[in-house]
Amino acid sequence: MDLKKIFTEIFGETAGGNDAIRVFYAPGRVNIIGEHTDYNGGLVLPCAINMGTYALIRLRDDASVADNGEPRFASTNSVPNAWEIYPRGIVHHMQRALSRRADSPCLATDAHHGFEGTCGNLHVSPAFGFEGTCGNLHVPPAFGFEGMRGNPHVFPAHFDMLFSGNIPNGSGLSSSASIEMATAVALNETFALGFEMLELVKIARESENEFCGVNCGIMDMFAIGTGKRGFATLLNCADMQFEYVPMRLGDFQLIILDTKKRRSLNESRYNERRAECEAGHPARMRHVKTENERVVAAANALRAGDVAALGRLLVESHNSLRDDFEVSCFELDALVEAAIKNPSCVGARMTGAGFGGCAIALVERAKVAQFSAAVTEEYEKSVGYAPDIYPTESADGAGAVNSL
Ligand code: GLA
Repeated sequence: MDLKKIFTEIFGETAGGNDAIRVFYAPGRVNIIGEHTDYNGGLVLPCAINMGTYALIRLRDDASVADNGEPRFASTNSVPNAWEIYPRGIVHHMQRALSRRADSPCLATDAHHGFEGTCGNLHVSPAFGFEGTCGNLHVPPAFGFEGMRGNPHVFPAHFDMLFSGNIPNGSGLSSSASIEMATAVALNETFALGFEMLELVKIARESENEFCGVNCGIMDMFAIGTGKRGFATLLNCADMQFEYVPMRLGDFQLIILDTKKRRSLNESRYNERRAECEAGHPARMRHVKTENERVVAAANALRAGDVAALGRLLVESHNSLRDDFEVSCFELDALVEAAIKNPSCVGARMTGAGFGGCAIALVERAKVAQFSAAVTEEYEKSVGYAPDIYPTESADGAGAVNSL
């Protein structure tokens, strides 16, 4: 697919030609282990995967267009424009983060952040690309935009974006966080906003919580923002400290098993679990405690290349999510059972929020085709239709793309 061509077909040509269109990308994620622990201040071990979302962006000369000053969003995916809430939320929350920065009485800055400031006076070094004076964020037009302190619109809204992704919606592989993070990195770079990746992750989570009304934890955006090919991200959600754990899977391959049961309508049950945790529900808390222990053990198993031990931990995690946390469902259980019954599989579990969506399995690389055929047959027998089964790899996190 020639995305730049599609972009100009939708939004028209400009003087800069294709070079004026910049391309960004954000992956999806699977969580290897550590489920429903993020919003409980626990440990998670996700990795970014080799499916994701492209975001193409171009500044617009608003003199030439009718709908002055509004960003325009399009997608190559033939889905209803319900997805537009994700980029719109990011625009809103990035603006908000910028106005927070401009409004803070003392703009705490250091060279590391690429700008400097004084109390009550936003002075930004020219190196960062713009400068300002007290009570008035004035940005030279040379930089492409200007804004006033107190005005939330500190970067201009006249840009066009095209999204193109291959993560199945509602499958629990974080297609929404992928769109959000692709938007966040695109705006951050295009307008040289100077946010660090962790700030973008927090903005994306804030947007998902407040703009989209989904009360998720930070895991998905974090995994997508920090992903590193060949590694999983071990994150402590209590203090945001993280480390990369090498994915030493040896002869085994990480497989995604999609129940094709979509979980989009189950946000209320997710919120219910969160409330139960806050209320100290004994079985829910038992899951969180044992799951945290499993994350530590799983990270050690991955480091040591002990895939059999990792596999056992996946199965224990699934059982705990099914019995103690009660977020599995008939389809997920059927798929995980069919997987672990197969001799080439050392372990499987549901991944993500649950109630549908995907599971993951660790399968001998050389036997993936036989495994897929057997699991498909088994699942079809009990559920009535075939699952989607495909191998996946850990991948790099969100960022600019140099060539399409
Ligand atoms: C969803 C949420 C995450 C996390 C998982 C469960 O994916 O978005 O924040 O809570 O469920 O581990």
